Amino acid sequence: MSTDVDKRIEIHVGDITAVVCDAIVNAANAALRPGGGVCGAIHRAAGPELAEACAEIGGCPTGEARHTAAFRLPARLVIHTVGPVWQGGDSHEHSLLASCYRGSLKIAAEQGARSIAFPAISTGVYGFPLVAATRVAVDSVRRILAEEPRLERVIFCVFGEEARRVYEAELDRGGPG
Ligand code: APR
Repeated sequence: MSTDVDKRIEIHVGDITAVVCDAIVNAANAALRPGGGVCGAIHRAAGPELAEACAEIGGCPTGEARHTAAFRLPARLVIHTVGPVWQGGDSHEHSLLASCYRGSLKIAAEQGARSIAFPAISTGVYGFPLVAATRVAVDSVRRILAEEPRLERVIFCVFGEEARRVYEAELDRGGPG
Protein backbone atom coordinates (compact mmCIF):
# COMPACT_ATOMS: atom_id res chain seq x y z
CA MET A 1 0.00 0.00 0.00
CA SER A 2 2.54 2.55 1.08
CA THR A 3 4.64 2.76 -2.10
CA ASP A 4 1.92 4.26 -4.30
CA VAL A 5 0.54 6.25 -1.44
CA ASP A 6 3.97 7.60 -0.49
CA LYS A 7 4.36 9.18 -3.95
CA ARG A 8 1.65 11.61 -2.82
CA ILE A 9 3.47 12.52 0.42
CA GLU A 10 6.17 15.21 0.67
CA ILE A 11 8.22 16.72 3.47
CA HIS A 12 8.79 20.46 3.42
CA VAL A 13 11.03 22.27 5.89
CA GLY A 14 9.98 25.81 6.73
CA ASP A 15 7.10 28.10 7.52
CA ILE A 16 3.71 26.58 6.66
CA THR A 17 2.23 30.00 5.91
CA ALA A 18 4.38 30.16 2.77
CA VAL A 19 3.39 26.74 1.43
CA VAL A 20 1.38 27.01 -1.77
CA CYS A 21 -1.37 24.40 -1.70
CA ASP A 22 -5.15 24.23 -1.44
CA ALA A 23 -5.45 23.83 2.34
CA ILE A 24 -3.16 24.35 5.29
CA VAL A 25 -3.83 22.85 8.69
CA ASN A 26 -3.65 24.91 11.85
CA ALA A 27 -2.61 23.32 15.17
CA ALA A 28 -5.33 25.21 16.98
CA ASN A 29 -6.64 25.48 20.54
CA ALA A 30 -10.18 24.46 21.51
CA ALA A 31 -11.36 28.07 21.61
CA LEU A 32 -10.02 28.63 18.06
CA ARG A 33 -8.31 31.80 19.26
CA PRO A 34 -5.04 33.09 17.81
CA GLY A 35 -2.29 31.56 19.94
CA GLY A 36 1.47 31.21 19.64
CA GLY A 37 3.48 28.71 17.58
CA VAL A 38 2.17 27.73 14.19
CA CYS A 39 -1.30 29.01 15.13
CA GLY A 40 0.05 32.50 15.79
CA ALA A 41 2.01 32.47 12.53
CA ILE A 42 -1.08 31.41 10.54
CA HIS A 43 -3.26 34.10 12.13
CA ARG A 44 -0.64 36.80 11.54
CA ALA A 45 -0.19 35.84 7.90
CA ALA A 46 -3.92 35.41 7.19
CA GLY A 47 -4.93 38.73 8.76
CA PRO A 48 -7.54 39.61 11.39
CA GLU A 49 -10.42 38.19 9.33
CA LEU A 50 -9.24 34.72 10.28
CA ALA A 51 -9.84 35.33 13.99
CA GLU A 52 -13.29 36.70 13.14
CA ALA A 53 -14.15 33.61 11.10
CA CYS A 54 -12.92 31.39 13.94
CA ALA A 55 -14.98 33.35 16.47
CA GLU A 56 -18.08 32.66 14.38
CA ILE A 57 -17.42 28.92 14.62
CA GLY A 58 -17.01 29.34 18.34
CA GLY A 59 -14.67 26.47 19.20
CA CYS A 60 -13.64 22.91 18.35
CA PRO A 61 -13.25 19.86 20.61
CA THR A 62 -9.91 18.07 20.86
CA GLY A 63 -9.49 15.55 18.05
CA GLU A 64 -11.89 17.34 15.71
CA ALA A 65 -11.45 19.81 12.84
CA ARG A 66 -13.24 22.82 11.37
CA HIS A 67 -12.49 24.97 8.34
CA THR A 68 -12.46 28.63 7.34
CA ALA A 69 -11.30 30.67 4.38
CA ALA A 70 -7.58 31.43 4.29
CA PHE A 71 -7.86 35.20 3.65
CA ARG A 72 -4.34 36.58 2.88
CA LEU A 73 -2.63 33.19 2.82
CA PRO A 74 -1.74 31.59 -0.51
CA ALA A 75 -3.92 28.59 0.44
CA ARG A 76 -7.68 28.55 -0.19
CA LEU A 77 -8.70 26.98 3.12
CA VAL A 78 -7.44 26.78 6.66
CA ILE A 79 -8.41 23.60 8.47
CA HIS A 80 -8.23 24.11 12.23
CA THR A 81 -7.68 20.99 14.27
CA VAL A 82 -7.14 20.70 18.01
CA GLY A 83 -4.46 18.22 18.95
CA PRO A 84 -4.29 16.56 22.36
CA VAL A 85 -2.13 17.90 25.16
CA TRP A 86 0.43 15.20 26.02
CA GLN A 87 -0.29 13.74 29.46
CA GLY A 88 2.06 10.76 29.43
CA GLY A 89 0.42 8.70 26.69
CA ASP A 90 -2.39 6.92 28.53
CA SER A 91 -5.09 9.55 28.02
CA HIS A 92 -6.08 8.67 24.43
CA GLU A 93 -3.47 11.06 23.05
CA HIS A 94 -2.56 8.76 20.14
CA SER A 95 -6.15 8.16 19.00
CA LEU A 96 -7.05 11.83 19.41
CA LEU A 97 -4.06 12.85 17.32
CA ALA A 98 -4.96 10.28 14.63
CA SER A 99 -8.47 11.71 14.64
CA CYS A 100 -7.05 15.21 13.94
CA TYR A 101 -5.34 13.93 10.80
CA ARG A 102 -8.38 11.91 9.67
CA GLY A 103 -10.83 14.75 10.28
CA SER A 104 -8.63 17.29 8.51
CA LEU A 105 -8.24 15.06 5.46
CA LYS A 106 -11.97 14.38 5.39
CA ILE A 107 -12.73 18.11 5.32
CA ALA A 108 -10.09 18.68 2.64
CA ALA A 109 -11.62 16.01 0.40
CA GLU A 110 -15.16 17.28 0.99
CA GLN A 111 -14.09 20.84 0.18
CA GLY A 112 -12.39 19.82 -3.05
CA ALA A 113 -8.85 20.50 -1.82
CA ARG A 114 -6.39 18.32 -3.69
CA SER A 115 -3.32 19.38 -1.74
CA ILE A 116 -2.96 19.93 1.99
CA ALA A 117 -0.08 20.87 4.29
CA PHE A 118 0.14 19.71 7.91
CA PRO A 119 2.37 21.05 10.67
CA ALA A 120 3.53 18.60 13.35
CA ILE A 121 0.31 18.86 15.36
CA SER A 122 0.68 18.77 19.18
CA THR A 123 4.49 18.58 19.12
CA GLY A 124 5.12 22.14 20.33
CA VAL A 125 3.28 23.73 23.24
CA TYR A 126 1.14 20.59 23.66
CA GLY A 127 4.24 18.45 24.31
CA PHE A 128 3.53 15.29 22.26
CA PRO A 129 6.92 13.56 21.72
CA LEU A 130 7.97 14.15 18.11
CA VAL A 131 8.84 10.55 17.16
CA ALA A 132 5.57 9.15 18.47
CA ALA A 133 3.55 11.98 16.93
CA THR A 134 5.26 11.48 13.58
CA ARG A 135 4.33 7.79 13.60
CA VAL A 136 0.67 8.69 14.18
CA ALA A 137 0.81 11.41 11.48
CA VAL A 138 2.36 9.20 8.82
CA ASP A 139 0.20 6.13 9.60
CA SER A 140 -3.01 8.16 9.59
CA VAL A 141 -2.21 9.95 6.34
CA ARG A 142 -1.18 6.74 4.58
CA ARG A 143 -4.41 5.02 5.56
CA ILE A 144 -6.61 7.85 4.32
CA LEU A 145 -4.68 8.35 1.07
CA ALA A 146 -5.12 4.66 0.28
CA GLU A 147 -8.88 5.09 0.24
CA GLU A 148 -9.24 8.72 -0.90
CA PRO A 149 -8.05 9.28 -4.50
CA ARG A 150 -9.21 12.92 -4.52
CA LEU A 151 -6.28 13.89 -2.29
CA GLU A 152 -3.30 14.22 -4.61
CA ARG A 153 -0.64 15.73 -2.34
CA VAL A 154 -0.04 15.78 1.40
CA ILE A 155 2.83 17.95 2.61
CA PHE A 156 4.30 17.46 6.04
CA CYS A 157 5.63 20.93 6.81
CA VAL A 158 8.16 20.72 9.62
CA PHE A 159 10.25 23.25 11.42
CA GLY A 160 13.93 22.35 11.37
CA GLU A 161 16.26 19.61 10.25
CA GLU A 162 15.74 17.37 13.27
CA ALA A 163 12.05 17.12 12.50
CA ARG A 164 12.80 16.47 8.84
CA ARG A 165 15.02 13.52 9.81
CA VAL A 166 12.30 12.09 12.05
CA TYR A 167 9.70 12.29 9.26
CA GLU A 168 12.10 10.83 6.69
CA ALA A 169 12.93 7.93 8.99
CA GLU A 170 9.25 7.21 9.55
CA LEU A 171 8.46 7.29 5.83
CA ASP A 172 11.48 5.04 5.13
CA ARG A 173 10.19 2.54 7.65
CA GLY A 174 7.31 1.68 5.30
CA GLY A 175 3.65 1.36 6.01
CA PRO A 176 1.48 -1.32 7.56
CA GLY A 177 1.04 -3.12 4.25
N1 APR B 1 5.34 26.54 10.29
C1 APR B 1 5.43 25.20 10.46
N2 APR B 1 5.60 24.64 11.68
C2 APR B 1 5.68 25.47 12.75
C3 APR B 1 5.58 26.88 12.64
C4 APR B 1 5.41 27.41 11.33
N3 APR B 1 5.32 28.73 11.11
N4 APR B 1 5.70 27.42 13.89
C5 APR B 1 5.86 26.38 14.73
N5 APR B 1 5.86 25.22 14.06
C6 APR B 1 5.97 23.84 14.56
C7 APR B 1 6.59 23.66 15.93
O1 APR B 1 8.00 23.54 15.80
C8 APR B 1 5.97 22.35 16.40
O2 APR B 1 6.72 21.22 15.96
O3 APR B 1 4.64 23.37 14.74
C9 APR B 1 4.63 22.30 15.67
C10 APR B 1 3.42 22.45 16.58
O4 APR B 1 3.70 23.39 17.62
P1 APR B 1 2.64 24.40 18.23
O5 APR B 1 2.38 25.49 17.27
O6 APR B 1 3.09 24.74 19.59
O7 APR B 1 1.26 23.51 18.28
P2 APR B 1 0.73 22.46 19.39
O8 APR B 1 1.81 21.74 20.09
O9 APR B 1 -0.33 21.68 18.67
O10 APR B 1 0.04 23.39 20.47
C11 APR B 1 -1.14 24.07 20.17
O11 APR B 1 -0.28 26.19 20.87
O12 APR B 1 -0.11 28.24 19.90
C12 APR B 1 -0.89 27.45 20.62
O13 APR B 1 -3.09 28.13 19.91
C13 APR B 1 -2.19 27.06 19.94
O14 APR B 1 -2.98 26.56 22.11
C14 APR B 1 -2.58 25.99 20.90
C15 APR B 1 -1.28 25.23 21.11
